[in-house]
Amino acid sequence: MERQPHVVVVGSANIDLTTFTDLFPRPGETIFGRKFQLGFGGKGANQAVASALCGAKVSMVARVGDDLFGPATVQNFMAQGIDASHVWITRGESSGVAPIFVDSAGQNRILVVKGANDALTPADVDAAAPLLRQADCIVLQLEVPVETVYYTLRFARRNGIRSILNPAPGQPLDLAELANADYVVPNETEAEALSGMPVRNIEEARVCAQHLLDSGLRRVIITLGGNGALCASADGMEHAPPHRVEPMDTTGAGDAFIGSFACFLGSGMAESEALARANVYAALSTLSVGTQMSFVTRERFEAAWR
Ligand code: RIB
Repeated sequence: MERQPHVVVVGSANIDLTTFTDLFPRPGETIFGRKFQLGFGGKGANQAVASALCGAKVSMVARVGDDLFGPATVQNFMAQGIDASHVWITRGESSGVAPIFVDSAGQNRILVVKGANDALTPADVDAAAPLLRQADCIVLQLEVPVETVYYTLRFARRNGIRSILNPAPGQPLDLAELANADYVVPNETEAEALSGMPVRNIEEARVCAQHLLDSGLRRVIITLGGNGALCASADGMEHAPPHRVEPMDTTGAGDAFIGSFACFLGSGMAESEALARANVYAALSTLSVGTQMSFVTRERFEAAWR
C-alpha cells in the first residue's frame, strides 16, 4: 500500500532564462537566437516540484532575492502545493538566475548566478529544524553553500532521516561528509568531479561507483542520460536501462529523476522499482521544453509507465 511521503528540499530556487540557439556570439558580435522562454527553475525547486507532482507532500527550505523574481518564486511554490513557509526573502540580494542555452539536439549549457541561494546558512537549517524533523526524506543539491549542505546531511544522519544528495553543479567535495548521505546521485560529469575518474559509459560508471563506495559513500546512483542509471551499494550494482525517447530539451531531467525517486522510494516502493520509475519520469520530462514546466503529472506518468 502506497503512503504519502513528506519530502523536504533544502536547496536552490532560480529563474531560468532559456535561449534556444545553435550559435554563440564571438566577443563584440551580436547574433539572433531562435526562441526564448522564462521559467521557474533551480535544482532544488525543480526537485521539489517533481516530487510534488508525483504525489509527495513537499516543503521547501530556501532563500530568494528581494527583486521581482523572489515573490513570484514563492507564489509558484504555493501554486504547486509546496509548503513555502521556510522560503525567506533576502534583502539586498538578487534571486538566483540561470541563463540556459539549448541547441537543436536538445542538449543544454547552463550558467548559474547563485544570488540569494548563497545566503542559505546552517542557522537557516536550525530555524527549519522542527520542519526537517517531520521529513521522511531530505533532498539537497549544491547551488547553496557547501557548508550548509554538509550541516544538513549531519542533521539528517543524527535524526535518522533519509537524505538524498544531488552533487550538482559538479565540484570536488569532502567524501567523508558525503558519507552521511543515504544516496548520492550525480550525473556523469558530477561523478567525474567527485571521483577524478572519467565516466563516459556504463563500464566506467561501474568503476567510478565502486571507487566512491570504497571511499565511504553508502549508496551511489549515477544517472547516465541516454544510458539509463546505475545504482551501487554494498548489496551490489543494478543498471536501470534507458527509456528511449527523442529528447526536445534535456534541461532538468536529472532533477525530475531525483524528485520523483524521493517520492517513489518514500511511498514504500522497493529501491529497484523506484529507480526504474524515476528513470522513466526523467525521460518523459525531455519531451517538452523548459524545466519545471516539462515535468508530467503522476497521472501522465502512470499512463506511460503502464
Ligand atoms: O538542473 C537544471 C537547473 O539547473 C535549472 O533549472 C537551472 O536553474 C539550474 O539550477
